[in-house]
Amino acid sequence: MESTRARLINLLSQNRESYVSGQSLSEQLGISRNAIWKHMKDLERDGYIIHAKRSKGYRIVSFPDKVSSNTIRWGLETKWLGHHIIHKDATPSTQLIGHEAARDNAPDGTIIIAEEQTAGRGRMKKNWFSNKEGLWTTLLLRPSIPPNKASELTLLTAVAVRDALHQLTNLSIGIKWPNDLLIGDKKLCGILTEMQGEQDRIDYVLIGIGLNVNQDEASWDTSIGDIATSLKIETGETWDKKEIVQAVLKCFEDTYELYLKDGFKTIKSRWEENAFKIGENIKIKTFHDEWAGRFLGISDEGALIVESSDGTPITLYSAEITWFDR
Ligand code: BTN
Repeated sequence: MESTRARLINLLSQNRESYVSGQSLSEQLGISRNAIWKHMKDLERDGYIIHAKRSKGYRIVSFPDKVSSNTIRWGLETKWLGHHIIHKDATPSTQLIGHEAARDNAPDGTIIIAEEQTAGRGRMKKNWFSNKEGLWTTLLLRPSIPPNKASELTLLTAVAVRDALHQLTNLSIGIKWPNDLLIGDKKLCGILTEMQGEQDRIDYVLIGIGLNVNQDEASWDTSIGDIATSLKIETGETWDKKEIVQAVLKCFEDTYELYLKDGFKTIKSRWEENAFKIGENIKIKTFHDEWAGRFLGISDEGALIVESSDGTPITLYSAEITWFDR
């Protein structure tokens, strides 16, 4: 059941051009006019701008540029993803909150979203820079697929986020195996998948998406600036994070449903169409080795296929790739 606050925002949002009287709101929501007034004060504290006129009532003038539960919900076109939202102003990591929520039986499709992370996690135990200008979110899924297929979800996420961002911004965005999104050779988005389950069963999967949105060159120190970029740096525009998260969730839901129905093959071709350095020579770093080879594509399960110097195709399930002009 939608909260009173969400219903109030909906009513006001449907009447953006006109005022809605306190009496009418109070009747529709079944709460007192005094309670309506208190909700308005709360909304203002959360960054909504609301005009109140004594004889006419209330009108929403603008929504906050924050990704609170209510702002995301309004205009979200998904069927189930993101219908349960956990929002934090600041948190060490949305992945941590995701694990807690999953253990507390949060439903499939819950999302955790933070304005800022104080200990954002990257892959390979790296730190992830997460200031207020980015979009930091974790999707909690409970798919009925075997655990060895979880890595396909990672590649699927890269495809879905890429497509959503491409549709919104028209930027040319590449996917670096397995799941980094790049513009040119700079990183725009990182994806971290964590899974909990038993040998033959997934209990839950957390897909963490870290997207650089409104950072400028000055937002990060040179060590990051050399390898990272943001939507703002690439387009010169400031982006509405709420709109981005809604687009990402919609595209993810569609892609994920297609995957559950038809398997990885349709996703595979979308991944390869946008693969960074496909057909080119790359450097491959595994746990104990570093070598060069030609990037041929990915297997039906999303593993990396590289041609070694003697022409043999080699399939790798875990590795890091880099390239020569870096
Ligand atoms: C990478 O190393 O490329 C993956 C980065 C993933 C960052 C995201 S931000 C939201 C979620 N919470 C985290 O602490 N990490 C992921």
